[in-house]
Amino acid sequence: MLHTNASARTLSIDIGGSGIKVMVLDKSGAPLSERVRLDTPQPATPEAVLNTIKQLVMSVGEFERISAGFPGVVRMGVIETAANLHPDWIGYNLATELSKRLQKATRVINDADMQGLGAISGQGVELVITLGTGFGSALFVDGKLVPNLEMAHHRFRKGETYEEQLGRAALEKVGEQKWNKRLQKAINSLQKLFNYDFLYIGGGEAKLVKLPLAQNIKIISNLNGLLGGIALWKDLEAL
Ligand code: BGC
Repeated sequence: MLHTNASARTLSIDIGGSGIKVMVLDKSGAPLSERVRLDTPQPATPEAVLNTIKQLVMSVGEFERISAGFPGVVRMGVIETAANLHPDWIGYNLATELSKRLQKATRVINDADMQGLGAISGQGVELVITLGTGFGSALFVDGKLVPNLEMAHHRFRKGETYEEQLGRAALEKVGEQKWNKRLQKAINSLQKLFNYDFLYIGGGEAKLVKLPLAQNIKIISNLNGLLGGIALWKDLEAL
């Protein structure tokens, strides 16, 4: 059941390690509802998360299709990794389940990929990192997504990964100042690795970034995590 209606309203869902947010967007990606949020249920099993989404959806009005960002590797709607949620997610077909339960066509991608789609300019090499429970990363070349770039669990420094050094647990442990210093080191390392034209820094903790940033580095609002939902349906808008 695919909608080719260019005026279709899109329910955008951002599934995070600590919060789940939803909002309805119009065909141009402008918000049609408030952004509503509930804490991610613990344990964050597929069933518990889907129930939370169902609850959230009741307050946002009508929509014709669904986009969801998930904090792990996603291939064809199926979850392959879920470092900060329950292991029952592995192998779970989130796209099929959401579309079955909410009776609408659904597309699912990685949360950082979705965030990036809401922020990029579409020109050159654009890297996006998100600072929240986990460490999200997304890469675009002239607007085209290189899906599922996972810096999070890659070795960064002192025998620890990017997520171990910069995720929320690390922030809480070492404090903002040290976390900012680490972030500066991460930016230097990512710059050397990707030679990006632009770097966007998003996620719930981006507001804590207190670094002098080069001109090609931009802090983006966490709202982009939801606004990016519209880009998942771009191919249909062209029909
Ligand atoms: C996951 C990524 C995700 C990031 C931010 C990491 O732990 O592996 O897929 O994008 O957290 O949620």
